[in-house]
Amino acid sequence: MRTPMVAGNWKMNGTLESVNSLMRDISLGAKNYPGVDILVFPAFVHLSYVKSVISKKSDEVGLGAQNISSEPGGAFTGEVSGLMLSDLGCKYVLIGHSERRLIMGESDLDVAGKFAAAQHSGLTPILCVGETLEQRQSGEALDVIEAQLFTVIKAVGIESFNNAVVAYEPVWAIGTGETAQPDQAQEIHAALRNMVASQSAKIAEQLRLLYGGSCNASNADDLFKMSDIDGGLIGGASLKASDFISIVKAAKKLI
Ligand code: PGA
Repeated sequence: MRTPMVAGNWKMNGTLESVNSLMRDISLGAKNYPGVDILVFPAFVHLSYVKSVISKKSDEVGLGAQNISSEPGGAFTGEVSGLMLSDLGCKYVLIGHSERRLIMGESDLDVAGKFAAAQHSGLTPILCVGETLEQRQSGEALDVIEAQLFTVIKAVGIESFNNAVVAYEPVWAIGTGETAQPDQAQEIHAALRNMVASQSAKIAEQLRLLYGGSCNASNADDLFKMSDIDGGLIGGASLKASDFISIVKAAKKLI
């Protein structure tokens, strides 16, 4: 069985004060849902602080970063290496979130480099894939997702997916309030698992696939009921502890 996972991507939000109370409340709520992997992804500058709040409250919540440099270190002003992240206590890192692909111009190859860097530093990458509205409307969704996935598989090898998570995040559903219908999401998740299975059936079977894109307390139950959806990557709804914990509760039903 795949352990369900709920990951909160806090994006560029929060102050020391707000992340402190958010993390405190999430930690308290998390205690009621053992067996679900619960993760938070604060901004770089809040990682250390959030880590200290987590360790005072509980060990039930894992820490991840929203981005990583593909370089191991050196003269790369403003970048953050995998070593720095694992040194701070991060266990996970988001790779190729659509905001990085579309706003910061990260290519599929850049994303593959970051995926490799994460694993070299002992971090588990959460690889984000997903199509834009135009790509969906022109019937290219699966081709886009296949290219995003296979660029990484080609660069690092399928065995690397023994220690990775993949998140399907349709760009048209992110932050828009428009969620993919459960069967729409399931169709892509099943296709993703098949793509991985074409390289290794064993890895495909154990690989966790998260859904992201306006997933919230009221639609999580129906999404997580789908056989190939193993949890969620949550943006907006992860900034309110009670909403986030309701989503964790929906994931707990998978166990
Ligand atoms: P959203 O964001 O839940 O606010 O749509 C999801 C994400 O960007 O990971």
